[in-house]
Amino acid sequence: MDSGLVICSIPRIAILASGRGSNFEAIANAIEAKLLVAEIVLVISDRPKALVLEKAKERGLEILIEKDQAKIKSALLKLDLDYVVLAGFMRILSAEFVNAFSDPRGFARIVNIHPSLLPEFPGLDSYRKAFEKKLPRTGVTVHFVDSGVDTGPICAQHEFSIADCKSVGEVEQRGLAVEHELYPRTLHWILQDQFKIFKKGAKLHVQPH
Ligand code: GRF
Repeated sequence: MDSGLVICSIPRIAILASGRGSNFEAIANAIEAKLLVAEIVLVISDRPKALVLEKAKERGLEILIEKDQAKIKSALLKLDLDYVVLAGFMRILSAEFVNAFSDPRGFARIVNIHPSLLPEFPGLDSYRKAFEKKLPRTGVTVHFVDSGVDTGPICAQHEFSIADCKSVGEVEQRGLAVEHELYPRTLHWILQDQFKIFKKGAKLHVQPH
């Protein structure tokens, strides 16, 4: 007999970050505010002095300081994770690492936030590049990670004006505010599996529903 009982499991994520951890905080705050349904089971940093580690400890979360990708990978694989979430993790993940989190639908269950409208300005210093080119607008991208540098399937983008910004600092400040809203909101539908992913030409496209 159908008991009518619905068991909803909370998606388990680990966050990898190298620095200040403002995106980590935005994610943790969104979870607290119940805007994002997820459990952060581990926060990993490759840099022992990264501020993100203090922020994670203050919230009582498990932390791991580790540089070696093979060790990070095996620590993550023990956790029965739904997704790996990169939040300012300053290392390029090897193909072996990415493949360890592959989903049968053809992408890796690793999400990243990048401070540009990809495919424009992959790699480092993207806000600076947009500012120095005197672009009127730039943006932020949330994407699945593949073994290239910021080349994986795009999940969400948000564009904003920088025409009146007088310094890179101002661009970054405006960008981070956008990141902190876009990342938890996008993670929410990714973790709830509320999207379809399909091939168009050689590329994978992600569409929320
Ligand atoms: C953010 O700009 C993010 O887009 C990029 O690295 C920066 C990390 O900032 N990938 P924080 O550590 O989350 O404050």
